[in-house]
Amino acid sequence: TFVVIDNCIKCKYTDCVAVCPVDCFYEGVNMLVIDPDVCIDCGVCEPECPAQAIKADTAKNLGIFPKLNADMAKIWPNLAFKRKALPEAAEFDGKPNKYEAFFS
Ligand code: SF4
Ligand code: F3S
Repeated sequence: TFVVIDNCIKCKYTDCVAVCPVDCFYEGVNMLVIDPDVCIDCGVCEPECPAQAIKADTAKNLGIFPKLNADMAKIWPNLAFKRKALPEAAEFDGKPNKYEAFFS
């Protein structure tokens, strides 16, 4: 499966949603997650993210994100269509440790 990581937070560009063939993205206030039970590992979303916020789950140092994706995908609503990025996306793109800053 693929995993949405830290840099999606406060950006939420949603280009990933536009290309996913199985609509397995779920939406929180600040970020999206991927449902690992539905993702077919096609990989097309990874290069579409302007924030480089999608990684294969075989990547190193994903921290809490594999679990966070799996858990939140069961709670948050599905998002199947691209829409405008968050207004603060450009400002927050690339800021380090966004998870600690906004979720803990
Ligand atoms: Fe969707 Fe493919 Fe990305 Fe999985 S890897 S979330 S199936 S676009
Ligand atoms: Fe987030 Fe990138 Fe998708 S910023 S919403 S993972 S295109």
